[in-house]
Amino acid sequence: MSNPLPLVTPAAFRKIMGLFATGVTVVAASEGDEIHGMTANAVTSVSLEPLLVLICVDIRARMNRFLESAGGFSINVLSEDQEALSRYFAGSWKSEGPPEFRFLPWTGGPRLVGCLAAVGCEIDRTIEAGDHRIVLGRVMALHEGDASSRPLLFFGGRYRRLEELEAPVPPEEWSHEAVHIYYDEWSGSSRQTSEEP
Ligand SMILES: Cc1cc2nc3c(=O)[nH]c(=O)nc-3n(C[C@H](O)[C@H](O)[C@H](O)COP(=O)(O)O)c2cc1C
Repeated sequence: MSNPLPLVTPAAFRKIMGLFATGVTVVAASEGDEIHGMTANAVTSVSLEPLLVLICVDIRARMNRFLESAGGFSINVLSEDQEALSRYFAGSWKSEGPPEFRFLPWTGGPRLVGCLAAVGCEIDRTIEAGDHRIVLGRVMALHEGDASSRPLLFFGGRYRRLEELEAPVPPEEWSHEAVHIYYDEWSGSSRQTSEEP
C-alpha cells in the first residue's frame, strides 16, 4: 500500500517536489571583478521563439544583488565530478578552503570551466513569486562541454549519478520530429523491458 497523502505543508511540498529528479546548475553573474555563483535546480527552458529560460531565486539570496547589477547571468550545468562545486555554491561546503574552480569571461555571465553545458543570458524580466523571484533570461550564448561527461543529478534531497549510459543517444538535431523519435525509442525500449518475464 502506498503511503497516506502528507499534509500540505512547506516540508511535505519540498519532499514531494524533491521526487522530481533534476540536474544541478551553478548560476553565475559578475559585478565588476567579483563573480558570484549560486547552486540552482529551479531552472527551466521556457520558449524557443524567442529563446527564453527561467531561474527561480530565493529573495534572501545574495545572488539577487549580482543579477540586478550585471543584467545577465550564466547557467552552468554541472557534470557528475562537480558535486563539490554544487556544495560550495550552495553554502554547504564543509572542508577547509574552497574546491578548485575557474570561471571564464562569457556572454551574460561568467562560464564555469568543466561544466557539461552552459547558457548565457540577458535578463528579460523578473517576476515576484512568493519568497522567490522568477528571472527570465533571453538566451544569448550556448556552450557544450565534453560530450563524454555525465550529469550530476539531484533526487530525493541527495546527489545522484546516472547508473548507465547505454540508453539511446540524443539525436544531433533536436527538431520536433527527432525529439519524438527519441521519446518513442525510450518508451519502446521500456515497454519491451517491462513485457519480458
Ligand atoms: C541542489 C540544490 C539546488 C538549489 N536550487 C536553488 C534554486 O533553484 N534557487 C535558489 O534560490 N536556491 C537554490 N538552492 C539553494 C542555494 O544554492 C543556497 O541557498 C545558496 O547559499 C544561495 O546563495 P547566495 O545567498 O550566496 O546567493 C539550491 C541548493 C541545492 C543544494
